Amino acid sequence: MSQDLKKLLQTHKTGWSLDQRFYTDPNIFALEMQHIVGSQWILAGHLSQIPNPGDWMVFNLASESAIILRDSDGEVRCFANVCRHRGSRICLEDKGSSRKLTCPYHAWIYKLDGTLTAARSMPEGFDKSNFSLLPVSVEILFGFVFVCFSDDPPSLEAARKALAAPGKMFDLENLKVAAEKVYPIAANWKLSVENYMECYHCAPAHPDYAKMHTLMVDRRLRERLQQHMRDRMEDCGIRELEIDCNAGTAAEDSLGFSYSRTALFDGYLTGSRDGKPVAPLLGNIKGYDGGASDFSFGELSFLLAYSDHVVAYVFTPVDQQRSQCKIYWLVRSDAVEGTDYAKEELMWLWDVTTLADERIIVDNQAGVNSRHYRPGPLSEMERNERRFIDWIVARLSEAIDD
Ligand code: FES
Ligand code: FE
Repeated sequence: MSQDLKKLLQTHKTGWSLDQRFYTDPNIFALEMQHIVGSQWILAGHLSQIPNPGDWMVFNLASESAIILRDSDGEVRCFANVCRHRGSRICLEDKGSSRKLTCPYHAWIYKLDGTLTAARSMPEGFDKSNFSLLPVSVEILFGFVFVCFSDDPPSLEAARKALAAPGKMFDLENLKVAAEKVYPIAANWKLSVENYMECYHCAPAHPDYAKMHTLMVDRRLRERLQQHMRDRMEDCGIRELEIDCNAGTAAEDSLGFSYSRTALFDGYLTGSRDGKPVAPLLGNIKGYDGGASDFSFGELSFLLAYSDHVVAYVFTPVDQQRSQCKIYWLVRSDAVEGTDYAKEELMWLWDVTTLADERIIVDNQAGVNSRHYRPGPLSEMERNERRFIDWIVARLSEAIDD
């Protein structure tokens, strides 16, 4: 396998899509899980989803599962969702609230700090203190909960520092999840991420998105629209910032990240059906500059911050030919559903866009599975995808050299 893969990696042409085996081979998938996905911090939710002691939510990643909870002191903790008796999953629902965690199999009971408090009929000498739930790394970044399944997670400190200013601008800590939805995608996780990273497909695939977002227009028109937005930014209390420390440029033991703001077409104040506001302005923002900010945290977690709501996208693998996109729609924490926002209007743009993405990604995987598939050359508009593919190739090369 490793000789084979080495050859495959060496023959990869930069600027071209990957060989079929990267999208179909379970051995490559296993390597990616260990060396790439498993060592990423992944956005697993927002603090507003677990406001009270005992509240918990589950985050799944391929064969891994974690319970993120508030303990009795209100601290956020994260444990492997694996019972220390014989390994059953403990929390079977996506979320819940309880004073303790009871395994559904033989009813071992754990406290919210992970310690085992009850185990029936165990032999004499059984020491409960040796059977606490295993911890999983968890960090809070601007109110978002990030989980990493590696025992040696990369540092988040550079991202925390560099993104503090835009995080504050949109007051990300004081958001609440207004809606969430999972989109299962019958395709390898890299095809899902690659599709998110390029907007070459946006004009043909996303007519609604293309009416308001300007990523696919030519450079001159885009610069003009950017200038219109800049002219409005100061009055709206939005600072112009451009931060780029993506994977490939980030320090090796540090999570990559980026931030930038892009103009919408004139007339669109936010990403909504008619371009009109869909929720109250975020943070201390004083008006609509007609822009949308992209944040990236590593290679799987992204935010899009309009002036009045934030959309978070998380791509995770399930197996070598299945992945999922989870989307969270967030508004300011004091916004009231029905009065300040309507879920359907808030979700509309990225629901139709993601359903279209799901279709094209699945069609992409179907073609890649054919014996007639050959890697193809990437366009100018697929620069970020190219960077992502280069990064995958580099990480896999390192992994087999280890
Ligand atoms: Fe959990 Fe037996 S596997 S109590
Ligand atoms: Fe798309």
